[in-house]
Amino acid sequence: MPHDQETTPYLDAVLSYRRRGFTPFHTPGHKLGRGAPEKLRELVGEACLQVDLAMAGAVEDTRESTGLIHLAEEYAAEAWGADRCHFLVNGSTSGVHALALTLAGPGETVIVPRNAHKSLLAALIYSGAMPCYVEPEVDADWGIPLNVTVAQVAATLREHPEATAVFVTSPTYNGLAADLPGIAATAHAAGIPFIVDQAWGPHLRFCPELPVDAMTAGADACVVSTHKLISGLTQSAVLLARSERLNLRRLEGMVKMTQSTSPQALIYASIDAARQQMTLHGAELWRGAIACAEWARGEIAGIAGLRCLGHEVLDAEGVAEFDPTRLTISALDLGLSGFELEMALRDRHAVAVEAADPLAIILNVTFGDSMDDLRVLVEALRAIAARAEGGGGREAAAQWLRLRPPSFTRQILSPRDAFFAPSVALPLAECAGRVSAEIVTPYPPGIPVLGPGEEITVETVGYLEHAAAVHLKVHGPEDLSLRTLRVVA
Ligand SMILES: Cc1ncc(COP(=O)(O)O)c(C=O)c1O
Repeated sequence: MPHDQETTPYLDAVLSYRRRGFTPFHTPGHKLGRGAPEKLRELVGEACLQVDLAMAGAVEDTRESTGLIHLAEEYAAEAWGADRCHFLVNGSTSGVHALALTLAGPGETVIVPRNAHKSLLAALIYSGAMPCYVEPEVDADWGIPLNVTVAQVAATLREHPEATAVFVTSPTYNGLAADLPGIAATAHAAGIPFIVDQAWGPHLRFCPELPVDAMTAGADACVVSTHKLISGLTQSAVLLARSERLNLRRLEGMVKMTQSTSPQALIYASIDAARQQMTLHGAELWRGAIACAEWARGEIAGIAGLRCLGHEVLDAEGVAEFDPTRLTISALDLGLSGFELEMALRDRHAVAVEAADPLAIILNVTFGDSMDDLRVLVEALRAIAARAEGGGGREAAAQWLRLRPPSFTRQILSPRDAFFAPSVALPLAECAGRVSAEIVTPYPPGIPVLGPGEEITVETVGYLEHAAAVHLKVHGPEDLSLRTLRVVA
């Protein structure tokens, strides 16, 4: 029977714990704030400390066991269209770990997008599984990864009939969604589960004007970060799964292995609240956010020297849908890098962005923003454009955009075997022909050039030498200057 989505069973239990006024002989040591240092009290407030609890035990009595949490998860499963939902306190990161550990063991193959979040590569190091990559194109103008196509997935499945699952990241950080129904049908025709990292899509299910969500599209499981774009507290996320192609008991075991044994009650309660808010008001709230974002997109496009990624991106390979609430803004035509634009917004206008890289900034627009907030943003951008004197940003950007990351070559060892093998740090120039022991991801475009266990080619070395020369920011390796790389000994 459908649940009454208006109720918030877990959140209500936390509230009633506070109202009742217990004498606490349980964690944490500050005892509902009574022993908390003054500065901590000032920072988080008395009301918050009074419900700083680990989820079970205190909130529910032992007669109820964990029934309330399960009930709250059932409400969420129904809201997001799944058979089972798990609340997560370590973000989508831990959901990706649990799914990857469930779906492939040592030596088994999984199909993963090359632009996957690093949590997936970490999961492969934990599990010992072998990745088989599908490589999305990089947009030549914006330097951002596009998304994987149905044809790419189908071709990879033909080459790797032994694969046990297909993973896709959708939407991307810039809001670019893959053709999820098409990829779901392709994976299912091959008889294997289709998993979506939908960390950036907690809202999709609740507003028809947004890209189709993974569960509607036929995914067997997905993770969504309820903290990224809806009202979950930071670190909250949910894992959603269907039983047809997944062993839900095994998945549950993996979720338990990848979560803290002391999940924060507030994080759980916030998922309950976010789910209720979305099911009751999601469509209208997101329609408002879309209108705000589209207004800003139009205004920004009218400011000379600024560009804002828009629906034209739908012409690009692999982009089936676009989330208009994500604003990717470039000021390169004013000579400003994304970092410089971020600093100008922050220092002069007290506007804080989601992310910046050499090419652009990314901003999230949600139902928490008003038109006044968007006006502040647009006026700040206008002022920055009027002041800009034209530095070397455009020329530097052109250099980065000309650098095309080399294609994936060969996986010689599993990520786990390479990661734990004896290794040495060699000068970059001497690394061709060796096997990488580490992950190397230059930004832009934020796609790994090397993962543990991959063959390092002359082309990879040449690309990384260029990347170091033009000061691309690199994530992953021990030596961020790229003078050396760690290779399997
Ligand atoms: C595509 C993608 N997947 C997973 C994650 C991890 O999510 P969380 O921060 O909730 O652990 C991120 C984080 O930015 C992400 O961008």
